Amino acid sequence: MEQFIFHNPTKLIFGRGQIEQLKKELAPYERILMVYGGGSIKKNGVYDDVVAVFRSLNKQWTELSGVEPNPRLSTVQKGIDICREEKVDFILAVGGGSVIDCAKAIAAGALYDGDAWDFISRKTTVQRALPLGTVLTLAATGSEMNANSVITNWETKEKYGWSSPAVFPKFSILDPVYTTTVPKDQTVYGIVDIMSHVLEQYFHHAPNTPLQDRMCEAILKTVIETAPKLVDDLQNVDYRETILYCGTMALNGILRMGLRGDWATHNIEHAVSAVHDIPHAGGLAILFPNWMKHVLDEHIERFKQLAVRVFHVYPEGKGDREIALEGIEKLRAFWNSLGAPSRLADYDIGEESLPLIVEKAMAFGPFGNFKKLQHDDVMAILKASL
Ligand code: NZQ
Ligand code: ZN
Repeated sequence: MEQFIFHNPTKLIFGRGQIEQLKKELAPYERILMVYGGGSIKKNGVYDDVVAVFRSLNKQWTELSGVEPNPRLSTVQKGIDICREEKVDFILAVGGGSVIDCAKAIAAGALYDGDAWDFISRKTTVQRALPLGTVLTLAATGSEMNANSVITNWETKEKYGWSSPAVFPKFSILDPVYTTTVPKDQTVYGIVDIMSHVLEQYFHHAPNTPLQDRMCEAILKTVIETAPKLVDDLQNVDYRETILYCGTMALNGILRMGLRGDWATHNIEHAVSAVHDIPHAGGLAILFPNWMKHVLDEHIERFKQLAVRVFHVYPEGKGDREIALEGIEKLRAFWNSLGAPSRLADYDIGEESLPLIVEKAMAFGPFGNFKKLQHDDVMAILKASL
């Protein structure tokens, strides 16, 4: 293993009816900014539950609604202006990863004396932020218990992830019942995103990581077992609860202890969705199997291990490559069986877009820890994904 220090300060408040805890968590704050998306929380009653808590505490609050999936810099800037005008002392994000990521950028931007794009595009690092909390409504990104945020500058067609310990949520409330209204397509995207987060961390070169490997495999197997049942029974709170817990565990830093994950596929996907505004995990479902095939020979043992332990590929009488490739095909087939896309053409993305996508992906130079990808590698993966 590599040396590591683990510190995750987010208080996780998990389970049915846990919105009750919001009262206690909000008690110390006076002027709250509530951030949410395009209105799903008004249809499913989550908005009413949160506002009831504000009222019971006699809290003043302001709202920023309309945060887009793939949240935009322009919306972050609106939120920063509100924080300054209203002297906001706490931000409550109520929604999925996009809402939470937007709230994190607002929290940092409100205390940053300059343009928020400076830290989103990693020209500078964030030292401080307003405190924020979350009420999660969609299992996918893990943003509820990590220090990451991904923001799009639609004018320049750039989408970057940035990170700072200052934006770990103080608390996150995860009630699986709140996720039962997520439609089928977004449910599937969430499942693909969760599995992709695990896979990004599974492919590394650190020696001696037997527990880390088994923890990754446990999450993958749990998702593979639960996802088809959930997709056929979207209201099932037990299945929702399992996937919700998997989503948080996949990207809260626990799997990453002692190793450095790859993250190249996420980087390429962010470039695709910066140019075409497609759902994050729709892009991942297309790209991940092609990244895997491209980098297979870096450490084929890991691909074999995944194939045999997670996808139950029968190894007897087969060569390493055959086993590894069979595992990759099983992953693709699994995602397709849930309804995830498998080609860029499914989003009408053609070859003419690829040079710009590659340029955006290469913005910070070669990337990926399992295999450092150069310009030609990225182009090859994208071409295989057409
Ligand atoms: O906007 P509303 O009306 O709320 O609708 C949303 C949105 O249309 C809807 N939704 C959310 N909860 C719902 C619901 N609909 C019905 N019932 C509910 N309970 O779902 C749609 C998608 O929401 P969004 O927040 O965009 O999805 P997700 O959580 O997948 O977030 C995606 C964003 O997170 C970034 C992605 O790049 C993308 O921008 N990521 C953030 C990461 C992080 N912070 O750690 C890591 C990820 O790898 C990812 O890159
Ligand atoms: Zn992701």
